[in-house]
Amino acid sequence: MEDLAGKVAFITGGASGVGLGQAKVFAEAGCRIVIADIRQDHLDEAMAWFRDRNAAVHPIRLDITDREAYKAAADEAESVFGPVQLLFNTCGVSQFGPIQDATWEDWDWQLGVNLGGVINGVMILAPRMIARRQGGHIVTTASMAAFNGSPGGGIYCTSKFAVRGLTESLRGDLAPHDIGVSLLCPAGVNTNIHEAVLTRPAKYASTGYYGPDPERFRQLKSVIVDGMDPVVLARHVLQAVKENRFWVLPYPEVKEQLLRVHQTIIDALARPEDDPDYEDRKRRQEAAFAAVRAQRAAANNQQGGK
Ligand code: NAI
Repeated sequence: MEDLAGKVAFITGGASGVGLGQAKVFAEAGCRIVIADIRQDHLDEAMAWFRDRNAAVHPIRLDITDREAYKAAADEAESVFGPVQLLFNTCGVSQFGPIQDATWEDWDWQLGVNLGGVINGVMILAPRMIARRQGGHIVTTASMAAFNGSPGGGIYCTSKFAVRGLTESLRGDLAPHDIGVSLLCPAGVNTNIHEAVLTRPAKYASTGYYGPDPERFRQLKSVIVDGMDPVVLARHVLQAVKENRFWVLPYPEVKEQLLRVHQTIIDALARPEDDPDYEDRKRRQEAAFAAVRAQRAAANNQQGGK
């Protein structure tokens, strides 16, 4: 999507950190912006920043796990600015600790926001984008945690692996509708994510990890404070949207990590010579897939002919 002027962008978690960086950069590119966020104080601070900057920005207080509220927010965005062409599934939360110490509520909260919230965004806004036939672009924020599991990061990694699978699949699904899809995988970004537990709803209060502890917040902040500036990160996202590029990985320093992860997987593959049935199995599977593709093509031709 080369021409962004006047496009309507819906940004979850848009009042802080990565999402706010996206709001600033896409507003500067001429987009009209909806920032949807659960924290009223973040919305107020973000709106104060935009106040004298001649930007079209509309705040909506939203918990992205609440489907009915999300639909109402999508309606509100449309009534304020018109149809949404850009969806940023940016909002996310994190809380760390060994999987065996987690409560059910620890799982439900993080997966509900990081995965459920992305699913809700896609399910609510993608059909509207398709119906409008104006094309568009969806950017989902995962993390480097989408590539390898880590002790203490189990729930967060689970959510980010899932988001990556969803987003890679979505790219093919939406391509025929002229809707691009990108996956942003940041390493460190200097944001407020160290305070994420402040957004944890009371119904998920039971935790095996930690609460809003200032010392914990200080520790968590210390590992992101030297991370990328969210505005700089968002400029990479802007370029990816313009080029319709899937991967947004603006961190050269993770190259060794990615090489290691993928080389370990490749090295674990069995060798063809260890499987006597390998050639026959491969032939049978290829034939089965070719038959399915032929059936699909015939069905599509029939539909097109109607
Ligand atoms: P942040 O905490 O600064 O911003 C997230 C915003 O989402 C906050 O304003 C918060 O109020 C809002 N939010 C939380 N729960 C919500 C809900 N249920 N509904 C609506 N809004 C909600 O954090 P940050 O770092 O900007 O996070 C954005 C994304 O970036 C997340 O998906 C995170 O996993 C990802 N990320 C961040 C990294 C970092 O180093 N900061 C690294 C890799 C990925």
